[in-house]
Amino acid sequence: MKKIAVFTSGGDAPGMNACIRAVVRTGIYHDLEVYGIMYGYDGMINGDIKRMHTHSVSNIVQRGGTILKSARSEEFRTGEGRKKAYEQIKKHGIEGLVAIGGDGTFTGAQILSKEFGIPVIGCPGTIDNDIYGTDFTIGFDTALNTALEAIDKVRDTAAAHDRIFFIEVMGRDSGYIAVECGIGGGAELVMVPETKTSIQDVVKSLKGLRKTKTSSIVVVAEGDEEGGAAEIMEKVKKDINNENLDFKVTTLGHIQRGGNPTAKDRILGSWCGVAAVEGLMQGKTNCMAGIIHEEVVYTDFNDCITKDKPLKKDYLKLIEILSI
Ligand code: F6P
Repeated sequence: MKKIAVFTSGGDAPGMNACIRAVVRTGIYHDLEVYGIMYGYDGMINGDIKRMHTHSVSNIVQRGGTILKSARSEEFRTGEGRKKAYEQIKKHGIEGLVAIGGDGTFTGAQILSKEFGIPVIGCPGTIDNDIYGTDFTIGFDTALNTALEAIDKVRDTAAAHDRIFFIEVMGRDSGYIAVECGIGGGAELVMVPETKTSIQDVVKSLKGLRKTKTSSIVVVAEGDEEGGAAEIMEKVKKDINNENLDFKVTTLGHIQRGGNPTAKDRILGSWCGVAAVEGLMQGKTNCMAGIIHEEVVYTDFNDCITKDKPLKKDYLKLIEILSI
């Protein structure tokens, strides 16, 4: 293998740049030519591909976002789009790919590799921490700390006004951010897509908590089955029907995706990037380089995509115990 390319796809995550840097420098270290594909699969289709050098990745290890940009490509979902993408790969003489992203990115990589036989290794880049085959995903730790900082601030004002706050964090299908920032931020309740919490349960808990506390924080993962924080607050307000209670909503949104990556995310991104290139050089393909118990583990894309990474049940229990 002489030429490889790297790209980022799907939602960006802090630490992706550290991972890109690692891929580029590991490739060059092993005498490979390295290319960067801009805008994920869209850039692959359009031939937006450029040669990367050591200096191309200078001064980015500490930066959020992705210097290769990202996109969610509709055209790549079609056979015709993927054929165009492969033709560009072939035209540039690229013999191996490193795909940084989440399960959508890996689904695309798996299809591409199956259809055209191009070797691909993935690096887990998503703030959601919902990828099977790695203890943590690149970006999760930073997003968690961003959310936690915000909760601390909301808590001050919630306490000052004796208010009940519903704070919405990211996590369309996953409650990792919600549960962990709920524990770290001392939330009274956490609502996540993985478990069912009815509005009646929330009302009951809040009424109970009111006997000992004057303010409360409810963390809601955006994908909860009862809706987002605003919707849940309206339902609770209606059900509780008590004019003396003051409810507010804060939606943290995309601030959770930005910012300088934490040390953990820079190290994880770097480690996975090195492992991905070395994996390609060893002839591995169709798998993700993740870290489990401080060791590099290559997990088949199929498992990464189809297997669940369940929330630790103990964590939900912790919140129940600690919120009394
Ligand atoms: O990065 C993952 C994620 O943050 C999800 O939790 C969220 O639902 C989604 O991305 C939103 O991404 P976008 O706004 O880019 O479509």
